Amino acid sequence: MRLGTPLSPSAVKVMLLGSGELGKEVAIELQRLGCEVIAVDRYANAPAQQVAHRAHVVAMTDAAALRAVIEAERPHLIVPEIEAIATDELVRIEAEGLATVIPTAKAAQLTMNREGIRRLAAEELKLPTSPYAFASSEAELARGAEQVGFPCFVKPVMSSSGKGQSYVERPDQIGQAWRYALEGGRVEQPRVIVEGRIDFDYEITQLTVRSRMANGATATSFCAPIGHRQVKGDYVESWQPQAMSAAAQARAEQIAGLVTEALGGHGIFGVELFVKGDEVWFSEVSPRPHDTGLVTLVSQYQSEFALHARAILGLPVDVTQREPGASAVIYGGLEANGIAYEGVAEALSIPGADIRLFGKPEAFARRRMGVALARGHDVDEALVRARAAASLVRPVEA
Ligand SMILES: Nc1ncnc2c1ncn2[C@@H]1O[C@H](COP(=O)(O)OP(=O)(O)OP(=O)(O)O)[C@@H](O)[C@H]1O
Ligand SMILES: [Mg+2]
Repeated sequence: MRLGTPLSPSAVKVMLLGSGELGKEVAIELQRLGCEVIAVDRYANAPAQQVAHRAHVVAMTDAAALRAVIEAERPHLIVPEIEAIATDELVRIEAEGLATVIPTAKAAQLTMNREGIRRLAAEELKLPTSPYAFASSEAELARGAEQVGFPCFVKPVMSSSGKGQSYVERPDQIGQAWRYALEGGRVEQPRVIVEGRIDFDYEITQLTVRSRMANGATATSFCAPIGHRQVKGDYVESWQPQAMSAAAQARAEQIAGLVTEALGGHGIFGVELFVKGDEVWFSEVSPRPHDTGLVTLVSQYQSEFALHARAILGLPVDVTQREPGASAVIYGGLEANGIAYEGVAEALSIPGADIRLFGKPEAFARRRMGVALARGHDVDEALVRARAAASLVRPVEA
C-alpha cells in the first residue's frame, strides 16, 4: 500500500470502528504516517474522534447503519477497536472487496463471541485451555458447572471487561451467576460459557504482531511478555517484562503463533495466557491492541499502537523492548460530565512517570479515564512509580 496525502485523492483512508483510548493512540500513529483517519463510535466526542479527520456516531451493531457509513466513506482499511460490531456485515463487506478488515473479518467475528474463539483454540487447534461448557439456560449452566468443577467462572459469550462475569464457588450460586450474566451480556438470546478455574501463578498478555515482509510473506513477531493484575475482570495495572521461565516463554510464543496464524491478516494481537511453572493455557485473544499493552507506550521503541499502524499498512515493525515499564489505571471515581484533573503536576514530578488522559466526555466511578505510565530500572520500580502517579491524579467536578 502506497502512503499518500490525507484529504486528497492519494489518501490512505482508515476507519476505526470504536474510538476509545486504544483507538486514540492508533489514530495518532496513523496520523503520523499521513493517513486519513475516520473515527466511528456510538457516542460523540469519543477519545479517537478527537484526533481524527472525521467522526461519525453510529450504532455499530446495526448492520445497515454500519454498511451505510462504510459506503459513504469508502475507507481502504477498517480497524475494529471493540468487539460489539455487526461482524457478519464486515464479513460481507470484505467478501465484496469493499475494504480490508483488520486483521480479517473472520478474526473479528470469531473473537466477538467467546464460543467462536474457544472452539477454534481448544477443538481445532488443540491448545490447552480451562475446561469449559456452554449453556443457554440456568439448568444447562448448572450441569456445565458440575462438569467443569468448582470454583468456576461464568461469562456471557458476548461481553468484555468483566461485564456480567461471576466467580462461582458453590452450586447454590449458579442462579445468581446466570441472572448476572443476562444483565451483562450484549444480546437477547442468553448464552454463557462456564470455565473451570485455572490456578495460575501469573497471567500475561503476549502481544504478537503479524506484519508483511519485503518478499510479501507474513512475519510473526513477539513482544516481551506483559504481566497484569485484574480486578473483577478488568485490568488495573500491567508491567513489561513479566519474568518467565525459558520453557514457559517458548510455549507462550508457540501458542500465540498458532492462534494468530489461524486468525490471519496483518496487525497486532493481544493473546491472554495463564502460566503456572512451565505450563501455559490459552485464555482469549484480541485481534487488536490490548488494554494491558498501554505500558508499551513507555517500555518499547514502538508501542503496540505504532506496531499496529505499521503492520496494517504493510510496513515493517520492530518489537524491541527499550526498558522495564508499568502502567496503572486512573479511574473516574465520580459520575459527572466534563470533569477536571488535579494533581497532574505532582504525578509528572515522579521520575520516569508519564500520563495519558483520554478525554472521555463522561466519567463514572469505575470508568477508565486515564493511565499512569512509568519507566524504571526494573519492573518493581516502574510499578511503584506508576501506582504513585495514578494515585496522585484526582478527577474532580469541573
Ligand atoms: N478460567 C479462568 N481461570 C482463572 N482465572 C480466570 C479464568 N477466566 C477468567 N479469569 C480471570 O478473569 C480475568 C478476566 O477474564 P476474561 O479475560 O475472560 O474476561 P473479559 O471480560 O474478556 O476481560 P477483558 O475484556 O478485560 O479481557 C482474567 O484475566 C483472569 O484474571
Ligand atoms: Mg480478558
